[in-house]
Amino acid sequence: MACTMNLHIDQQRLQSEIDELAQISEAEPPVVTRVVFSEADLRARAWITAKCREAQLSVRTDAVGNTFARWQGTLPNAAVVGTGSHLDAIPNAGKYDGVVGVLGGLEAIRALERAAFRPAHPIELLIFTSEEPTRFGVGCLGSRLLSGTLSPASAARLTDASGATLETVLRSRGFTGELASVLLPADHHKAFVELHIEQGRLLEQQKIPLGIVQKIAAPASAKILVEGSGGHAGGVLMSERRDALCAASELILAVESAARSGKAPDTVATVGICEVFPGAVNSIPSCVRLSLDVRDTELARRDSLIEQIAQAAEAIAAKRQVAIRTDLLNADAPADCAPLVIQALSDSCRAHHLPFLPMVSRAYHDSLFMSRVAPTAMLFIPCHNGYSHRPDEYAAPEDIARGVLILAETLARLAS
Ligand code: GLV
Ligand code: MN
Ligand code: MN
Repeated sequence: MACTMNLHIDQQRLQSEIDELAQISEAEPPVVTRVVFSEADLRARAWITAKCREAQLSVRTDAVGNTFARWQGTLPNAAVVGTGSHLDAIPNAGKYDGVVGVLGGLEAIRALERAAFRPAHPIELLIFTSEEPTRFGVGCLGSRLLSGTLSPASAARLTDASGATLETVLRSRGFTGELASVLLPADHHKAFVELHIEQGRLLEQQKIPLGIVQKIAAPASAKILVEGSGGHAGGVLMSERRDALCAASELILAVESAARSGKAPDTVATVGICEVFPGAVNSIPSCVRLSLDVRDTELARRDSLIEQIAQAAEAIAAKRQVAIRTDLLNADAPADCAPLVIQALSDSCRAHHLPFLPMVSRAYHDSLFMSRVAPTAMLFIPCHNGYSHRPDEYAAPEDIARGVLILAETLARLAS
C-alpha cells in the first residue's frame, strides 16, 4: 500500500504474525484465551519482545510488566510519540482485540524504518499489562498505574480468584520492581495513539474504512454478593425458602431494565458472571456472586444507573429476605480525545483520500487512562458484524493494513 512518504505496509507479514500470536493461547484454536501472567501471556510477552528487538527497538519492561519498545529520535530528550495496545485476551476471545494495536503499531514502525524516516521525537510502542479485568477484577491495570489513576498500594492488594495478590503474582513472574516506579513523568509523552478494532458495527454498516475516536465512554464495575439460605431441594417448602439464585435472577433482570429504561443508546449494563454456591442439583442456592459492568458516555447518567441498580437490589433483598452486598471496583470518568492527535489522524486520512467517521468508543481501552497523562486519541477499523470478545471476531487484512498505514502516517506527523 503506497502513501505520501512511500510507506509500504507488509499486510501479508502482519497477518501471519497475527495468526502466529493467536496460537499462543490457553485454549484450542480458534479460541484465544490469554489471561494476564498465565503461561500463554508470558510466552506472548517473550514473542513480542523478540519481534521488537528484530525491528531494532530497545525494549524495557516496568514493574507491572508494561513493555516499552523504543525507536530513538534525533532530538535529545524530546517527548515520546506513543502507540500500542494490549495482548491479554479474555476467556473465549478472538485474535484481533488489542493485537491489532500492538502488531499494527510494530508494523507501522517497521514501515517508517523501511521508508528511511528519521523521527525527531522517539516513537515508542507500548504493550499494556492486563487491559482485561479477567484476573484481578479491574481492567487497564498497566495504564491505571502509568497514569496514576490507581495507587500502587491499592494495586498491590488486588487479588485473583485463588486469593493471590497482584504483588505476589508479579514477584512469582519475576517482576520485582516497586509499583510506584510505574508512574510516567507528566511530560513523557508528546502524544499517544491507539489503533483498535471498533468492537461495534457502525463502520461496517456505513461502509467507512476508519473511525477517529473523539470520546471514550465511562466504565464502572462492581462485585455483587447475594446471600440467602441453602438446604435440601426436597425438604424445604417453597414458603420457607430464601433462594439466593432466585433473588440474583430478579436483580439481573432489574439491571437490564434499568439500562433499557433510560433509552439512551450509549447506556449499557451487563452481568457477565453468575457463580452459584453450592452448585448442586438438589441443593437450594445459598449464595450467588455476580459481576456488574455499567457504561455510559455521560458520567451523570452512568452514576444514576448505578444508583437505580442499588435501589433495585435493596428492594429485592427486602422482598426475598436475602442480603445483597455490592462492592464497587471502579467508576471512571469518560475521556475526551486530544485535538492534537485527532487533527494528525484526520490530516493523515485526508492525505490518503480515505474517509473517516468521528466516533465514540463505548468499549474502554488503555487510551482512557493514557488520556489523563498524554494527548491521546484512537483510530478504529471495522470488524465483521461488530463481533468482539468471541472467537469469530474478524478484521479483514486490507482493513488492518489501511489502519496501520494511517497510524504510520500519524506517528510520522507527530514525531517530525
Ligand atoms: C475492554 O475490553 C472492554 O471491556 O471494554
Ligand atoms: Mn477486550
Ligand atoms: Mn481491547
